[in-house]
Amino acid sequence: MEKMRRRSVQTPFLRCAACTRTYDLGDPVWRCACGGLLDAVASPRFDPDAITRRPPAPWRYREALAVLGDPVSLGEGMTPLLRAEDPRAEVFHKLDYLFPSGSFKDRGAAALITHLRAIGVRRVVEDSSGNAGAAIAAYCARAGIACDIYAPAGASRGKLAQIAAFGAALHRVPGTREDVASAAWEAARSSYYASHSHNPFFFQGTKTVAFEVCEQLGWKAPDALVLPAGNGTLLLGAYLGFSELRAAGVIDRLPRLIAAQADACAPVCEAFHRGLNEPVKVEKRETLAEGIAVAGPVRGGQMLKAVRETGGTMLSVSDQETLSALRRAWGAGIYIEPTSAVALAAAERSLKEGLSGTVGVVLTGSGLKATEKVVQLMSHEP
Ligand SMILES: Cc1ncc(COP(=O)(O)O)c(C=O)c1O
Ligand SMILES: [Zn+2]
Repeated sequence: MEKMRRRSVQTPFLRCAACTRTYDLGDPVWRCACGGLLDAVASPRFDPDAITRRPPAPWRYREALAVLGDPVSLGEGMTPLLRAEDPRAEVFHKLDYLFPSGSFKDRGAAALITHLRAIGVRRVVEDSSGNAGAAIAAYCARAGIACDIYAPAGASRGKLAQIAAFGAALHRVPGTREDVASAAWEAARSSYYASHSHNPFFFQGTKTVAFEVCEQLGWKAPDALVLPAGNGTLLLGAYLGFSELRAAGVIDRLPRLIAAQADACAPVCEAFHRGLNEPVKVEKRETLAEGIAVAGPVRGGQMLKAVRETGGTMLSVSDQETLSALRRAWGAGIYIEPTSAVALAAAERSLKEGLSGTVGVVLTGSGLKATEKVVQLMSHEP
């Protein structure tokens, strides 16, 4: 029986978080037969000498990625780690908005689509507030895989245009973000669900942010990493990456993960401060931070556990704080979209409250995605 088979951690495999049933990496599954979430289990090794001689791209960590096949690549690079001028701490900005499709989601899409091409998947379904859909559509275009992307009718026009330009079938769904997910879920019955929140292979890509930050700091973990969190693909990727580096003996402690949400939709942050193990139910309100306005994150329990295990914290910021952070970033030559500024606003508050040491802040999405919003914001005085 599948679940009785002994697994060697030398060969990566998938394990259900709910019932512990296991699957081979090449099985065309995206969730367990019981409905539970699947995670890839592996114990990668790192050879810093070999890695540093390779091209500066997430693929330099190839042996640490539990995906099959040759890379489907759009030339994604190792994103810069830029020192910020801040007298309070050694603050670095990780410029993840400099990816081929303009957001960090390319990390996950590159890994996931690489794996899917290798196992022979020919058509996928995905739902997204925009950036993950654009990333999946881009890598599907590169791989010759057909895709259907479901997105909120009111998503940024720049993101929707990008999805359509890559040749994906774009389905604009009226209603809430949850209505979009239901429509995609229905379509996935007769296709393959390349969901960034459910699919375990997406996290094999997002974990490379931890590998890169660690390598760029001279194979050391920062003291803290601040990032925005909606469905938690970046948060859980960072947690997985740093955990694997620790297990391999490259670093000896995990950085504190500081995950930021918007006041208007902070189900995980609220649960964190109430000591709960699952996100609370919230009434989502309008926010500048459209990319992280996720009321029911499927991996919310994992997000809470990850932050707690690192000794980190969660905080939620107002749109006013986000806007101030956004204007400061733009004024410093950093052209990010509003959702990304949530991490900057959270870092600002944390630094004011005494956060010190080496602090990384991940800047996740390009301002070029949100030109209309930028024009609107620029027409109002600060
Ligand atoms: C620009 C940007 N930053 C951060 C996030 C948060 O990612 P996640 O929902 O995986 O936590 C998103 C998600 O769409 C995003 O678009
Ligand atoms: Zn299961």
